[in-house]
Amino acid sequence: MMVSCRRAFVLYHCFFLWSLGWSSAQQDETHLKSVTDLYNEASSHLASDNWSYSCSESSEGPDHWADLDPRWAVCKSGRMQSPIDVHKYELEEDLELGMLPLTYDNAPEYSNATITNDGRTIKVIRGGGSLIIKGVNYSLAYVDFHSPSEHTINGVDGRSVLPANLAVLVKLIFRFMLRFPLEMQVFHVSPEGANAIIVAVFEYGEAENPVLEQVTSQLGKLKKNQALAGVPVNIYSKPTDTHHYYQYGGSLTTPPCTEGVIWTIVSTIYKVSPIQLALFRVALEGSNSRPVQALNERKVSVSAF
Ligand SMILES: *[C@@H]1O[C@H](CO)[C@@H](O)[C@H](O)[C@H]1NC(C)=O
Ligand SMILES: *[C@@H]1O[C@H](CO)[C@@H](O)[C@H](O)[C@H]1NC(C)=O
Ligand SMILES: *[C@@H]1O[C@H](CO)[C@@H](O)[C@H](O)[C@H]1NC(C)=O
Repeated sequence: MMVSCRRAFVLYHCFFLWSLGWSSAQQDETHLKSVTDLYNEASSHLASDNWSYSCSESSEGPDHWADLDPRWAVCKSGRMQSPIDVHKYELEEDLELGMLPLTYDNAPEYSNATITNDGRTIKVIRGGGSLIIKGVNYSLAYVDFHSPSEHTINGVDGRSVLPANLAVLVKLIFRFMLRFPLEMQVFHVSPEGANAIIVAVFEYGEAENPVLEQVTSQLGKLKKNQALAGVPVNIYSKPTDTHHYYQYGGSLTTPPCTEGVIWTIVSTIYKVSPIQLALFRVALEGSNSRPVQALNERKVSVSAF
């Protein structure tokens, strides 16, 4: 049963556009560098390389990350893991949360990005940004993409009302339908190495999203384990609304699942066209979302609307 879930989704969302993604692929060798040159030196926080998102009974999938490497134990034992479902009943209004103090500089020397495909995510590495949270200045490190979304907002919660085995079935069937098609995570890092991540989630829209287009237009040239340098990628300082957002303390959503990450989820829901989404899905060769984690004792803060 679980083996088929990933395949079914890939077929459903990608098959009809599969040839489109590959036929538009054109090699541009002058800009291609190996990931060992660019990706590793720029941003790798991976201790080892044997984990996956497989939703089969695979021993490398999200339920087994902690078993793959002792340094990843917190993936299982942690009480502040990410992603989560941001649910209206768990929110706590926080009057201290004002407009997000973030600045992105799109001068050519900063917007000059390197885009990598490491087989698990598409990463856009560039500098020129800062985000201040509780007096700590986090600088922009990179942006990455997950499909379907990792975080959910008011996700349908079958856990409490359904018998356990029925709830498992519902979660399997709706594994993808209960999520947004795409999540963008903007990683910032403090001088001490702590992460603050801003999340935007996307739903389907007819028109191509011009911000995402800067990345999707490059995906045909970017095969697995390749990097593309010198791509201008502008990030806008003022998302539609920097007043309305959710904030909580969580973890990295990939091994080593380190906690102490400040997550900020912008409440505006953006649009991605079906073709843009298909380009991500083809490049990623499937889903790359960790299942939603228990909230435990945490509260999610919401900026005062
Ligand atoms: C995963 O990789 C790490 C380091 O590369 C290694 O120590 C560990 O034994 C591997 N685990 C499995 C289950 O292969
Ligand atoms: C952008 O990056 C490329 C490759 O890293 C480099 O050759 C080029 O000079 C950079 N351009 C600017 C404006 O910084
Ligand atoms: C935060 O750090 C950036 C450099 O990363 C700097 O340009 C900016 O002025 C700093 N902001 C504050 C408020 O200190």
